[in-house]
Amino acid sequence: MPVRKVADVEPVNLIEYEELARQKLPQPAYDFIAGGAEDEVTLAANRAAFQRIQLRPRVLIDVSNVDLSTTVLGQPVDFPVLLAPVALQRLAHPDGELAVARAAKAAAIIQVLSTMSSCTIEEVAAAADGPKWFQLYCYRDKEVTKRLVQRAGASGYRALCLTVDVPRLGNRERDLRHQRIFPPDVIPRNFVHEVDLSAISPGDQGAAIAAWAAPLLDPSLTWRDVDWLRSITSMPVLLKGILTAEDARLAVEHGAAAIVVSNHGGRQLDGAPATIEALPEIVAAVQGRVEVLVDGGIRRGTDVLKALALGAQAVLIGRPYVWGLAAEGEAGVSRVIALLRAELELAMALVGCTSTSIAEIGPGLIRRDA
Ligand code: FNR
Repeated sequence: MPVRKVADVEPVNLIEYEELARQKLPQPAYDFIAGGAEDEVTLAANRAAFQRIQLRPRVLIDVSNVDLSTTVLGQPVDFPVLLAPVALQRLAHPDGELAVARAAKAAAIIQVLSTMSSCTIEEVAAAADGPKWFQLYCYRDKEVTKRLVQRAGASGYRALCLTVDVPRLGNRERDLRHQRIFPPDVIPRNFVHEVDLSAISPGDQGAAIAAWAAPLLDPSLTWRDVDWLRSITSMPVLLKGILTAEDARLAVEHGAAAIVVSNHGGRQLDGAPATIEALPEIVAAVQGRVEVLVDGGIRRGTDVLKALALGAQAVLIGRPYVWGLAAEGEAGVSRVIALLRAELELAMALVGCTSTSIAEIGPGLIRRDA
């Protein structure tokens, strides 16, 4: 699809929001958000795989009322889309995660806050009291991890989303080329209290915190740590970054409340499968024992519909809402959410579904021989 020039007109879809954001952001910030690992094959595959899937519309069904509401882990949401954890959102806009919290609350959908957020767990909770989950990276120092979990629980976050596909950071060459990506005031603020800043000059404190936080991610994380995590919290624990049936079965055995099929938006292992192609094997493996969510490359209401038809309970979007944030702050996030919601509603009407319930959206909607 040709991309319109969108500098002077309101974007009409999520893809155009990326172009608008690109025009507004410094190149290093744009590349940090847009980029993937190495040759970006997996990044591209996420989109291409959705585009290969064809839908089987049914007709002559009364679709005057289409109900998008559903639940995720039993929590009611206005429609089956969550905002994925994305680090350092003040790179995109000074209001960062606070603006996203307000937009998510207004839309009655769930925001998943990153461990690497540029506003703190507590600040985001105070900005808007909509439903929130906390994305967790595990630290070598278990006490640091435990403190993050306790802070999220105390601030009212309703689930922990443990990201399991970052034993080490993927090889993101766009970032390597830029060397310095982050302005000094955009830092992972959840760790400010963990670092002794007394000997560091104010201008260098951001870099000191970032340098402290990044290498401490635990590369020795195993299923035993999932058990440990479950033992220290009453929040449900989801595992984000699962791509195989084997790991999906282990996740169920280790008490995961849900699985997020994800390749980290193509930012970790280049050569990992497109998530929408990995989804069916995972849905088959878990046999309905836990909910399955998926993210990666979702840009259209029809993409959401395809994911639901292949067995996802809901989907997450990452980059699109950050493009909205970069373009127009909170209003841009709200507009991205509204555009996707409207597209999903239309897609459901055009395929003849009046609700997102599993009874209506199923594999019958997907053309198998395409
Ligand atoms: C991410 N993602 C991510 N995931 C996570 O678990 N913790 C994190 O801190 C981040 N940070 C992050 C930063 C940026 C700039 C991006 C683009 C992504 C991955 C994210 O949660 C999600 O899996 C993908 O973004 C989904 O793909 P799309 O929707 O961006 O194509």
